[in-house]
Amino acid sequence: MARKPLLMGNWKMNKTVAEAREFAEQLGQQSQSLCNDADYAVCAPFTSLHILRVMLPANVKLGAQNVHFEEHGAYTGEISASMLKEFETVYVLAGHSERRQLFGETDEIIAKKVKAILSQQMTPVLCVGEVLDQRDAGKTLDVVRNQLNKGLAELTEAEIGRCVVAYEPVWAIGTGRTATSEQAEEVIAELRAALRQKVGATADDIRILYGGSVKPANVAELCSQPNIDGGLVGGASLQADSFAQMAAEICKGV
Ligand code: PGA
Repeated sequence: MARKPLLMGNWKMNKTVAEAREFAEQLGQQSQSLCNDADYAVCAPFTSLHILRVMLPANVKLGAQNVHFEEHGAYTGEISASMLKEFETVYVLAGHSERRQLFGETDEIIAKKVKAILSQQMTPVLCVGEVLDQRDAGKTLDVVRNQLNKGLAELTEAEIGRCVVAYEPVWAIGTGRTATSEQAEEVIAELRAALRQKVGATADDIRILYGGSVKPANVAELCSQPNIDGGLVGGASLQADSFAQMAAEICKGV
């Protein structure tokens, strides 16, 4: 089965409801750029999920950036998977490097989140990636394989088949320093090989995205690599114009 490319925005802690509405309106005006041969999603702050569900073009799905792994209870400030599901959220990020580094999320916590996301029939987007010191020390493949294995540790083979993986080298996030398409492809091919060890041929159906300074000018080149199935995009996903341009670039290649 050919893997359908996925263009996913990660807004991080950006945009009020009014700004999210404006984005959705502007993207709606450019919906001719969003071909049917790719999938699209925006991972927004919780506060903007409702307006986006109402306003986004129908083929742009909702994503969330975080979730708590328990179903409910005394976890002040947290949001559960069933709460996200109510908004028709389709994708939920797990293990983004900012969550790992700034909020102390461990691989064990991330694995529980992945499980919780699946329990509500949503799609986890498990993010993995090395920091610069690890790359310089030649440890990249070990680091990402380890994050992958631990992040998927609680899942059955069928559940692993329902995940999306995103390779995001930490040194490329928000720095303007994109990994070359060869660097990204090397790691992503290795991640697919690791998935194949777990789930056999199903690994060929699992989408693996690249993230880290993706923009309209480099998205086509990255996505033309045999194992790269789309982009997880921060900064360049904040403007509807640039989101639509990236979509158009991906569509040219499918
Ligand atoms: P960036 O962020 O595109 O701004 O580098 C990517 C991400 O953190 O998902």
